[in-house]
Amino acid sequence: MYELFKPWLFRQDPETIHERVMHGLAWLGQRGPTLELVRRLCSVQDARLEVTAFGLRFPNPIGLAAGFDKNAVAVRAWPALGFGHVEIGSVTALPQPGNPKPRLFRLPQDQALINRMGFNNEGAEAIAARLERLQQTFGKPPVPLGINLGKSKLTPLEEAPKDYLQSLSVLWPYGDYFVINVSSPNTPGLRALQDKNHLEALLAALVGFVQGRKPLLLKIAPDLSWEQIDEILGLVEQYRLSGLVATNTTTGRAGLTTPIDEAGGLSGKPLRGRSLEVLRYLHARLQGRLPIISVGGIFSAADVWERLAGGATLVQVYTGLVYQGPFMVKKLCRGLLDRMEREGIRTLAQLRPR
Ligand code: FNR
Repeated sequence: MYELFKPWLFRQDPETIHERVMHGLAWLGQRGPTLELVRRLCSVQDARLEVTAFGLRFPNPIGLAAGFDKNAVAVRAWPALGFGHVEIGSVTALPQPGNPKPRLFRLPQDQALINRMGFNNEGAEAIAARLERLQQTFGKPPVPLGINLGKSKLTPLEEAPKDYLQSLSVLWPYGDYFVINVSSPNTPGLRALQDKNHLEALLAALVGFVQGRKPLLLKIAPDLSWEQIDEILGLVEQYRLSGLVATNTTTGRAGLTTPIDEAGGLSGKPLRGRSLEVLRYLHARLQGRLPIISVGGIFSAADVWERLAGGATLVQVYTGLVYQGPFMVKKLCRGLLDRMEREGIRTLAQLRPR
């Protein structure tokens, strides 16, 4: 079905389509019976896919990556499309328009996207108000809700801890887990927060606020060196974070065949190899001490399997969803179940390397 629509969809401006899709999904979230129909068509309920991580239960390991639903307008629709968790954001303390358009580019030949959105979002207050309304009307979402936090563009790096803390405290009641995003390539200077001194100040402030009450994770870039990753892991363990999200988009252009000269982060198939490599490195270092959410270039059940077998506890998708459409998660879940049967595996935890 989606393959039929795709040529028509892909003739239109990517961001315009994205906004229309979000509008449609927000609408769907308000329509109980239609939502139920979508749930029946698009989701797979099977106890063998359940995962427990950082004290939360996930009905399956596949989540929506940050950036798709920045303003939390469609949180009701994602579980009906089969997602086992949803990460909204990145949310910043201040509302901001993001970079000038165009800022999102499709690269169909490479099954990839380049974006330099720049954290366009309505800001923590407005998003908290939306989550409050949703909660009042419909109760808590049926799958864990992650909230990904970014730094407001106007806030200088030295004041980053205050800025993140502001968003965290405003959104605190609504997130089941929180992610500190210091890895988007589209906010000037943001990735410098991955450096030891900046990161230490940021973690000290946020961990001090959280005090172990809810899971706090860190999302890292794929463009770090092993030495930088080691340094980050030192702090992540010292400050007892709950896990890592790896990875964000890359500023590299390796593996790209489309001739395109646009600044921004590259996602999708060309990121797959590096994202997997980073996961394996993290797993080798952490030896299962902390859960890892693997994200970057996941398109198939074989990809998910590879990540879980490589040490990931959960995975997330963004670009794959753009290219594969609303039945993607169902396809991944079915594919996982088929392979579990073939290989005689009863729970996904059995897949994790020791
Ligand atoms: C993103 N991503 C992202 N990540 C994040 O932490 N905060 C954000 O606001 C965004 N925004 C965003 C916008 C767009 C248009 C894209 C394509 C991506 C990164 C995303 O969550 C993910 O880490 C990467 O896209 C890699 O996964 P995929 O796309 O290869 O599955």
